[in-house]
Amino acid sequence: MQKISRVSRTKEEASQNYDRLSRWYDIFASSEKKFTDIGLEMLAVQSDESVLEIGFGTGYALLKLACSAHPKTVHGIDISSKMRTITEGKLQRVGLKNSAHLKTGDALKLPYDNSQFDAIFISFTLELFDTPEIPIILQECHRVLNTGGRLGVVALKKEDCRAIHIYEYFHKKMSTLVDCRPIYAKESIEDATFQITQNKKMTMWGLPINILLAKKS
Ligand SMILES: C[S@@+](CC[C@H](N)C(=O)[O-])C[C@H]1O[C@@H](n2cnc3c(N)ncnc32)[C@H](O)[C@@H]1O
Repeated sequence: MQKISRVSRTKEEASQNYDRLSRWYDIFASSEKKFTDIGLEMLAVQSDESVLEIGFGTGYALLKLACSAHPKTVHGIDISSKMRTITEGKLQRVGLKNSAHLKTGDALKLPYDNSQFDAIFISFTLELFDTPEIPIILQECHRVLNTGGRLGVVALKKEDCRAIHIYEYFHKKMSTLVDCRPIYAKESIEDATFQITQNKKMTMWGLPINILLAKKS
């Protein structure tokens, strides 16, 4: 198995970077939405379920989760305060402001109780945690999920292929803009003692994308 690249920027830099990107993020990341939608379909949040999104960005998935889980409150955590402001504005415009509790902070230590959630969604965000942090955040997900709770992850998949080699080259050269790096999401989720229940592989501009559903047994 080839090593995944390390993340050298600080959390402060991550927060500043996403603050700067926030205004343009919806345009910049428009091609990712179809994969997020498939991840949401697989997670299939029901009304009255308690759900958390980690790295909610400009709120594309969070708004959908807030509708699905209604009348239960949806929670979200993101390191960028400007992403949170944009998401709160969108929630307000569709009358769902009171259906979501958003926090600004590093998701490495989740500020939630044990077994608080039925479902967690992470889309294009697990890739942003440094290699030693990935098992820690997945353990945190395990802790805050109920037994039988679901974890939905959409992530760039590390593979030994040309598209990934080219992408990793740009990630090295322009890591503020090309921030996500391909990871072994499935293996990391299994190592955190989740059971994978669905595993979809798709491609975006030739890049392998993993869409995974896992269960805390
Ligand atoms: C690539 S964006 C993905 C946003 C959204 N999930 C989507 O699919 O459109 C990554 C998001 O994760 C947030 N993020 C990065 N590092 C984080 C951390 N350590 N804790 C919480 N959020 C983080 C960023 O601020 C950004 O909003």
